[in-house]
Amino acid sequence: MRLIKAKDFEDMSRIAANIIAAQIVLKPDCVLGLATGSSPVGIYKNLVEKYEKGNISFAEVTSVNLDEYKGLDHDNDQSYYYFMNQHLFSKVDIDPANTHVPDGLREDVEEACKEYDEIIAATGGVDIQLLGIGRNGHIGFNEPSDHFELGTHCVKLTEDTINANKRFFAKEEDVPRYAFSMGIGNIMRAKKVLLIASGEDKAWAVKNMIEGTVNTQVQGSVLQLHQDVVVVADEAARSMLEA
Ligand code: F6R
Repeated sequence: MRLIKAKDFEDMSRIAANIIAAQIVLKPDCVLGLATGSSPVGIYKNLVEKYEKGNISFAEVTSVNLDEYKGLDHDNDQSYYYFMNQHLFSKVDIDPANTHVPDGLREDVEEACKEYDEIIAATGGVDIQLLGIGRNGHIGFNEPSDHFELGTHCVKLTEDTINANKRFFAKEEDVPRYAFSMGIGNIMRAKKVLLIASGEDKAWAVKNMIEGTVNTQVQGSVLQLHQDVVVVADEAARSMLEA
């Protein structure tokens, strides 16, 4: 695991966007694994700027998103589909047909998860997977558990995650209780992983992900077993690290 020490949120966003842009320049038809939430907002802003300046093009890029709330449709402004359109897809030249976000409205959960795994496989594999990290160490919506889920699955969100995400919703009751998420197996198959962390509330998760033992209660700790992980963390998110 390589740790890049960013100063603050802006610095983290700039560094991580440069890494993704370099991937697109090196392989214009690359597959990007994308994340939502507040952590990547600055990265998408930087990438849109690079696109507008003519430095990168998404014309040949394929994307697969990590997760989606169960029960939210595309027009719901809290859905991750809506988020991706708002922050990236509608602002760059990516072909919408090459963008993939799990469909939150699917009733047949098993079939939906199987199909999403097939979509990921059909891309030929993720070149770079962008990840945020939850306060409890989750990556994607792989919540603390007694095992690692391998493939896409439907997960019951923990109280901590519901609490952390209620800031985006009018009322806590509006936060969906379930989500579709890529599994740890999907994430570990990415050729490169780029994890970003900003703010003091991520310090515990960052410490346990990097310096703790690999364990299923801190799902991000599994990244210690991946051969190509870059963590870009700002000062506050690094504040509990020994080294
Ligand atoms: C989002 C995702 C989640 C978030 C995590 C951190 O696609 O998979 O794991 O990355 O919950 O969220 P923020 O960035 O809002 O702190």
